[in-house]
Amino acid sequence: MKKDLLSISDLNRKEIEYLMEQARRMKREGSPPLLSGKTLALLFEKPSLRTRASFEIAMYQLGGHGIYLSPEEVSLGKRERVADVARVLSRYVDAIAARTFSQDTLHILAGHSSVPVINGLSDLEHPCQALSDLFTIYEKKGRLTGLTVAFIGDGTNVANSLLLSACQLGMTFHFASPPGYDVNEKVLNQGREFAALSGGQIRLTNNPDEAARDADIIYTDVWASMGQEAEVEKRRLAFSGYQVDNKLLSLAKGDVLLMHPLPAHHGEEISVGLLDDPRSVVFDQAENRLHLQKALLVKLLLNPKVSGK
Ligand code: CP
Repeated sequence: MKKDLLSISDLNRKEIEYLMEQARRMKREGSPPLLSGKTLALLFEKPSLRTRASFEIAMYQLGGHGIYLSPEEVSLGKRERVADVARVLSRYVDAIAARTFSQDTLHILAGHSSVPVINGLSDLEHPCQALSDLFTIYEKKGRLTGLTVAFIGDGTNVANSLLLSACQLGMTFHFASPPGYDVNEKVLNQGREFAALSGGQIRLTNNPDEAARDADIIYTDVWASMGQEAEVEKRRLAFSGYQVDNKLLSLAKGDVLLMHPLPAHHGEEISVGLLDDPRSVVFDQAENRLHLQKALLVKLLLNPKVSGK
């Protein structure tokens, strides 16, 4: 049976912890060519730096190969039905990492593919980013349970995946956004269910100061994501007052970590220069995409049933 990663909630707590341990081991010790002869298709409808580069390099370092299929080449759903693309690629490759406009497209791909499909970002979730972020927090703090993440900004795909995974791991998730820019409602309900089991908590507010107070991690993301270019001005107005800056960081704990999935819009969601602050672990997050995704690829391609089940 293949296993897909379309949502972070496709992984249970034990599996998330297993991936972090494997990522830590590979980062420290390097990785043998466990995926020799294997190929990953990178099927992208949107631009990418980190996701594309980290997946391609992960495959290379594991002895395998990544093949990038650009939006122009494939024109998913326009030149060819999504289902047919999935069936064809399944005959060539061992897994598909897909970046799509819609989460529904990922479900169609997975439903017609005989190989694992990995969500490389959709409108709803960005599970690989959230896993890498949790791994980064774990590396820096030595634990996850009991920590408070304060997400300041838009209810993006990253916010959704981070909320779900934080709640699975017994963390407290604060979310501050202007009215109307909340996290997805279904995600919120699922997060509440996870939190009830793990001892985690969710706190929603329109006040960034309230969210940031005594937080262990302050996290932000762009105010207008890919595909929302027409809303840039409207969003700039809505989010004024939600910028992460020194003043907001000073409300958090003294050893707070500043996180951002990148790309950043300096001077919008994050003040100019703050990415270089000693509290920023933003480039560790970017690096950890590589280590975490190596662990994920090995698990999905070689031993989907091993550990954490
Ligand atoms: N954070 C992230 O997914 O970056 P890219 O859009 O460059 O892949």
